[in-house]
Amino acid sequence: MGSHTKGHGAGGSSGAAGESHGGTGHDKRYGGGVEKLRRAERLEMLELGRVVELCLEGGACRSVLDVGTGSGLFAEAFLRRGLAAVGCDVSEEMLEAARRLVPGAAFVSGAMERLPFEDGSFDLLFLGHVLHEAYDVDRALGEARRVARVRVAILEWPFREEEMGPPLAHRLRPERVVERARLAGFGAVERHELRQMELFVLGA
Ligand SMILES: C[S@@+](CC[C@H](N)C(=O)[O-])C[C@H]1O[C@@H](n2cnc3c(N)ncnc32)[C@H](O)[C@@H]1O
Repeated sequence: MGSHTKGHGAGGSSGAAGESHGGTGHDKRYGGGVEKLRRAERLEMLELGRVVELCLEGGACRSVLDVGTGSGLFAEAFLRRGLAAVGCDVSEEMLEAARRLVPGAAFVSGAMERLPFEDGSFDLLFLGHVLHEAYDVDRALGEARRVARVRVAILEWPFREEEMGPPLAHRLRPERVVERARLAGFGAVERHELRQMELFVLGA
């Protein structure tokens, strides 16, 4: 992973208070390349298995849309658990890598603020280290709610300055994520403080 200034090495989004803001958001977009996303130290930090378990708790999920899929890491993890998996991303480079690395899933071009899918297309919608890169967090949450049938899960960096990951100014305050999720219309909002990450599980 390494440093996160511009084009940080592992994820990042909204302003210091976590608000959505104007502009393109491109200054916050991950630019660390495909390999960094699959480094062993990152996989350990992500607690991939635990995240997948928490997302699937309560059952009822047979399909997943992995938004901001990058190299397809989470699409692959859900695929292994038997879900039909689709990943989307704005980066053609990432999509090419994901198609190569995860041949069992489908990967399409698409932005979280305007998802190219019909309402209720997937049981689970997963946003892994990407919501903080949104140019409009509220819009991304609204789109997630529209496209997900059962639940939405958001994996984010903790709100603290760290050597690894995006700068604090790009990170989302957890309280803000909870507030924006409620405003987006989610009735059930769970926050899980993982060893090194924040996971939010949102339901109707
Ligand atoms: C830090 S990477 C995380 C990749 C993957 N979710 C993971 O955890 O391994 C963020 C990814 O989100 C993508 N991304 C950035 N802005 C996006 C947007 N508006 N819509 C969809 N994907 C976006 C980037 O291209 C990049 O692949």
